[in-house]
Amino acid sequence: MCGIFGCICSSAPRVIADGLKRLEYRGYDSVGIAVISGGRLLLEKDKGMIDPFVRRVDPSRISAEIGIGHTRWATHGAPCKENAHPHLDCTGTIAVAHNGVLENFLEIKEGLLKRGHRFASNTDTEVIPHLIEEGIRDGLSLKSATARAAKMIKGAMAIAVLSSALPDSIVCMKRESPLAIGIGKKGAYCASDVPALLPYTDMIMQLQDDQVAVISRGQVAVETIAGKPVKPRFIKIEWEAGVAEKGGYPHFMLKEMHEQPIAMRSTLKLPHGFLDRASRMMEGRVYLTGSGTSYHACLASSYAFSKMLCMDIRPVYSSEFQDLVCDLEGNTVIGVSQSGETADTLSALRYAKSRGAKVIGITNTLASSITSLSDTYICTQGGPEIGVAATKTFLTQLIALDQLMLRAGLNAGRLPEGVASGLLASLNGVPSLAEGVIRRSEGIRPIAQKYSSRRSAYFLARGINVATAMEGALKLKELSYMHAEGYPAGESKHGPISLVEGDFLCVFVAPRDSSRGRVIGNMMEMKARGARIFAVVTEGDDELKSIADDTFEVPPVPEFLNPVVCTIPLQAFAYYVAVLRGLDPDKPRNLAKSVTVL
Ligand code: AGP
Ligand code: GLU
Repeated sequence: MCGIFGCICSSAPRVIADGLKRLEYRGYDSVGIAVISGGRLLLEKDKGMIDPFVRRVDPSRISAEIGIGHTRWATHGAPCKENAHPHLDCTGTIAVAHNGVLENFLEIKEGLLKRGHRFASNTDTEVIPHLIEEGIRDGLSLKSATARAAKMIKGAMAIAVLSSALPDSIVCMKRESPLAIGIGKKGAYCASDVPALLPYTDMIMQLQDDQVAVISRGQVAVETIAGKPVKPRFIKIEWEAGVAEKGGYPHFMLKEMHEQPIAMRSTLKLPHGFLDRASRMMEGRVYLTGSGTSYHACLASSYAFSKMLCMDIRPVYSSEFQDLVCDLEGNTVIGVSQSGETADTLSALRYAKSRGAKVIGITNTLASSITSLSDTYICTQGGPEIGVAATKTFLTQLIALDQLMLRAGLNAGRLPEGVASGLLASLNGVPSLAEGVIRRSEGIRPIAQKYSSRRSAYFLARGINVATAMEGALKLKELSYMHAEGYPAGESKHGPISLVEGDFLCVFVAPRDSSRGRVIGNMMEMKARGARIFAVVTEGDDELKSIADDTFEVPPVPEFLNPVVCTIPLQAFAYYVAVLRGLDPDKPRNLAKSVTVL
């Protein structure tokens, strides 16, 4: 996982630095840029994040109109200056920035070493510039040399290649890892994701697997690595560039939490055609698959389908999909991924397709790999999400899946028209209720303060809110580094309870629903062993308020919508605990926004 940004425009070094800043969420252990200045290739790179690098290098003092940059999340070789990208060939005239993992680099490197190449890093990436160098030596163009190198390499690669011998073009190639290309009035650009391109252009194309592109001012020529020309297909992206800025909030995460109502409202305006097409495609056995937070959306949705439609849909972690599911012919797989680029999810969907399943994609990123891979897709309308923690994209996934569930219920005759329209009215009303919850969510801060020095916590619930509890635990652990586990409350007595002693924190998601009575039982068991209880409860639930040490009230909603209103206080809890611990919630350690390795 890492970010690539390339451009051909005036003040290229400064534009690259800005572009990398927007991609920083993809990785931030080292950074580098390569530009062509005065006909020569100039390279600057270092360990660490972008800001100190930019302060030290001051890209705006470098005069160049073309260049590439990289912000790294190391997979091969320690995060140090030598391993930072871009990497060069032996002549120092070809630079490559890479996102992905090369599988056969060791054997390629061995051959290159035998042929006299010198290596400066421990990365897998560095074989690429050397292979291209050999291609050029054999008389190939930069494009053909890149294509030939790509054919020799196995594994995931999105690359941007710069050569001082071709000072007005950037060559790009993609396989598995994403790469978007944008052509604007003032220049041409490439980047690992669409939001990084939006300040410069809204006309974007996604390079497809095994395609190579030559980008120059005002144009892009694309062909497959086998040499077959491809007509570039640009899509107009409607997001505003300003949407991707922090907008006055101290962190993207807080800003994005406040954007949840609007993101949900936009998602509720999804064209009926998309929902209808997707719901009619749901034939045979249906699986839901995703990773991390997106998996939690799958889990919540599987409860909703079961409870509302009596339709059993199996949620499966994408990383486990191939090992768990084999009966796919004639069945349907719904893949959920906000980025549309998660390698685990893409690989599960590719596998499902190869075994004869129909694939429905649910993503926040139009023109992502998941949209090209799916038979049909639904685009959640979250807008760009920059904070590494998924917030608004999770709630919009829930909203999209709820709409799909209602539509499927109607189409399959499992929901009478009248019932469906009542549920739809509740669904349409949920953004306003969420707005109220978000407005009050600062009230979580003192509760977060009280528990911020704990070492561990359980998040417990039953039914659909098991997904909410798991999401709350994931948010807390990823942002605050506090150990947290989400569990079905009923399971807590089958092992987890042995950890509970005086002052152990148990967070319960306990709105008024069909499981409330049983959840109270589990709460009492924890309390009897000295646990401290923080519970998310329905407004006016005095009984639970008298049992728990701390509570946060959410408005009453139909059971299938509880994850929407109950997740918000848990997001706020994780956010405030992280901030109180002096951590940056937008950039949790060891994580990246888009996980493009398996
Ligand atoms: C959670 O806050 C994370 N961002 C992570 O679990 C994320 O949901 C997961 O990596 C899947 O990402 P995707 O939705 O882009 O596929
Ligand atoms: N495999 C490359 C490296 O370790 C690229 C990593 C990435 O895609 O983040 O340098």
